[in-house]
Amino acid sequence: LDNGLGLTPVLGYNTWNAFYGDINEDLVKGMVDLLVSSGLKKAGYNYFVIDDAWSNINRDKDGRISANSQRFSSGMHSMSKYVHKHGLKFGMYSDAGEKTCLGYPGSRDHEETDAEAFADWGIDFLKYDNCWAPASDWVIDRYTAMSRALNKTGRPIVYSMCDWGVGNPWLWAPKIANSWRTTGDVGPSWESMLRCLDNTVGLSKFAGPGGFNDPDMLEVGNPGLTEQEQRAMFGLWAILKSPLVIGTDLRKLSKAALKILTAEEVIAVNQDKMGVAGDLVAKEGPEEVYAGPLEDGSRAVALFNRHTSGTQYPISNITVYWESLGMDSDEEADVRDLFAEKNLGTFKGAWTGAVDLHDVRMVRITPKDNRREHQEWRP
Ligand code: GLA
Repeated sequence: LDNGLGLTPVLGYNTWNAFYGDINEDLVKGMVDLLVSSGLKKAGYNYFVIDDAWSNINRDKDGRISANSQRFSSGMHSMSKYVHKHGLKFGMYSDAGEKTCLGYPGSRDHEETDAEAFADWGIDFLKYDNCWAPASDWVIDRYTAMSRALNKTGRPIVYSMCDWGVGNPWLWAPKIANSWRTTGDVGPSWESMLRCLDNTVGLSKFAGPGGFNDPDMLEVGNPGLTEQEQRAMFGLWAILKSPLVIGTDLRKLSKAALKILTAEEVIAVNQDKMGVAGDLVAKEGPEEVYAGPLEDGSRAVALFNRHTSGTQYPISNITVYWESLGMDSDEEADVRDLFAEKNLGTFKGAWTGAVDLHDVRMVRITPKDNRREHQEWRP
C-alpha cells in the first residue's frame, strides 16, 4: 500500500500468541515495560499491538465501539498514551466481519466510525481479522472498505490484513494493505510452523516495500518449539521478509529466546532497505535453501534442516551453490554467519554448513566482484 508506511516489515509485539483473549490493562502495561527493559525495543521492535478481546461485547446505543469496562477500565486513549510514552507505536485489532473471532464487535458496516475512533485513540497500526464474514460477501470489498476508511482519517496507520490467505490476497492486497496473511493461524508446534512456511513459499514476488507476505506471528519463546526450532522460525521469517511480531510472555523470556529475537544481523536481513523477499531456491528432500538479495549486492541465505526427529544423523551438511543465487560457479565470495556474527572465509562456487536438526544456519554471501547482474537477481 502506497501510504508511506511499512517500507520494511513491521517489528513488534502482539498479545495473542501468549495470552489469547485473557488480556487486561495491567498485563498490557507490564508487557510494554518489559519490551523496553529487555532491550527488545532497542533491537527494533517498536509496534505494540493489543489483539482480540479489548472491547465491550456490545456497541453502545449510538453504535460506537468501546474499551472493555472491566479489563480496560481506563480506556483505549489511556492505553495508547501509555504505549506512546514508552517510545512505541500503538496497534489495535478489529475484524472485517460482524464479530471478532472471540465474539466482540467486528467493524463490518461500521468501517468509517470505527476507523475514526481508532484514529482518535491514536493508533498507528490495525490488524484486521476475517471471522464472522458471510461467505457470499467478497473478501476484497470488505478489506478495501477498511483500507479506505483508515486512509480517510488522515492518520498514518499501518494496515495489517489478517485474512488467513482467503482469496489469494497476495494478488490484490498489495494495493490496499501493508501486509496480508498467507496462512491460517500459527500455533506453538513444529508442524504448524512448517505449514505456515510452506504456504508462503513461492510468494516472494508479490512482496515489496509497503506490502509484505505474513506467515503469522512468531512463536519464539513459547513452549512447544525447541531452541533450534525457534531459531529456524526466526531466521526463515526474517528472510521471507515477514513482519516479525513477538508473541510470548516477556515475564518468562529465556536468555536463549532473547538472544534469538535480538540477533542483530538477522534482523538486518529482514529490515534491508531494498525490501525484496527471499524464497526457497533449492531443495534436496528435507534439506532446503532459502535465499534473497540484499541492497549491497550480497545474498541472505538460510540452510534449513527439516529432517524428521529421531533421524539417525541429526546434523546435516547442507550446501548452497552459487548458481542457485544468480552467481557464477567460478566466483569467489565472502561468507558470514549471521547468528554467530562470525566471518567464515572466502569460498568459490558453493558453501557447505553443518545444520542441526530442525535448525537453520543463516549466512550472508558477498561476491568479491559486485556486478550489476548480481543486484538484479531475484529468487
Ligand atoms: C484469528 C487470528 C489470530 C487472532 C485471533 C483473535 O484467529 O488469525 O491471529 O487475532 O483471531 O481471536
